[in-house]
Amino acid sequence: MTAPVILGIESSCDDTAAAVIRGTPGAAEILSSVVSGQAELHAPFGGVVPEIAARAHAEKIDLCVAEALSEAGLTLRDIDAVAVTAGPGLIGGVLSGVMCAKGIAIGAGLPLVGVNHLAGHALTPRLTDGAAFPYLMLLVSGGHCQFLVVEGPDNFRRLGGTIDDAPGEAFDKTARLLALPQPGGPSVEAEARRGDPKRFAFPRPLLDRPGCDLSFSGLKTALLRTRDSVMEGHRLKRQDRADLCAGFQAAVVDVLAEKTRRAIAEYLELEPEMPLIAVAGGVAANQAIRAALETVAADNGLAFLAPPLSLCTDNGAMIAYAGLERFSGGEVDDMTLKARPRWPLDQQSPALLGGGKKGAKA
Ligand code: KG4
Ligand code: ZN
Repeated sequence: MTAPVILGIESSCDDTAAAVIRGTPGAAEILSSVVSGQAELHAPFGGVVPEIAARAHAEKIDLCVAEALSEAGLTLRDIDAVAVTAGPGLIGGVLSGVMCAKGIAIGAGLPLVGVNHLAGHALTPRLTDGAAFPYLMLLVSGGHCQFLVVEGPDNFRRLGGTIDDAPGEAFDKTARLLALPQPGGPSVEAEARRGDPKRFAFPRPLLDRPGCDLSFSGLKTALLRTRDSVMEGHRLKRQDRADLCAGFQAAVVDVLAEKTRRAIAEYLELEPEMPLIAVAGGVAANQAIRAALETVAADNGLAFLAPPLSLCTDNGAMIAYAGLERFSGGEVDDMTLKARPRWPLDQQSPALLGGGKKGAKA
């Protein structure tokens, strides 16, 4: 039998995406990947507006699917299964994707595979590098931040995570407070390159507490207070803005690096034979964060994997891949598949609280 071809659909936040992949678990290739962002729709509101996002997904999703098929040079007849993000995320967006996937599955007579968005991120190192289980994963995005031991396609153990905001959210809020464009991560990172990270002293939350839980909400308050202390009337000088960004980013880097050091120590106790850490999620696109994590990994004798930038942020290929893992294991869903706003990867660990841009943390 030839390797299965999977169509993947993603619409859980503010990117509408579809992709086609072909292969087997640990050995898949991306045939096409189409992402349609919504940044300009949400820009006037300074953050993602769920109703606007849901409507834009519903309008764009079938176009993204058609484009992904055409880029791959395939039709629905060549597809073996349809994978779709069934949660966690903004419910209107997730529903758009699930309804679209159900329509395709019924219309083309294809198996339907519901996928956890976070599993999509967490399994990305298997798509990009064929990483073997287990490995340590730092998932850092706009809605999530957690350390996971990835033991199998549906087997995740959380070692720690944010108790309030996700780092991507903190970058987005920082950009809003400094009148920089959304999404905040890339614009704050660009400003930080011109700034002095030592000029302002930002806190390093939770470093005084043991374990690898993280917190980022205090950083935002500190940024606001420091910004107000240097503003003249309503004006913020160019250099002040750059220094604020550099100071903020340096604090995030320090916190992530130290907590990663601790997560690695816990991981090596569990899995001394598999020294690998991978990062995923939109914040993993940040070069300063990547560099710091790479150093921590090397200091502790771990190999380090970071996906290419286009596979760090939300995309359909990771959903198609997570779907391939389930499909290859004989797991499919039926028309009762539900869209789930909350869906923690590790069902055993207690829920982490906090309202992210995608709602309560999973
Ligand atoms: O994984 P993702 O595309 O969506 C979620 O699942 O949340 O992550 C989006 C988040 C946004 O908050 C964005 O500001 C952040 O990732 N991000 C970055 C960078 N690029 C994107 N944060 C820091 N530095 C970056 N270069
Ligand atoms: Zn994501």
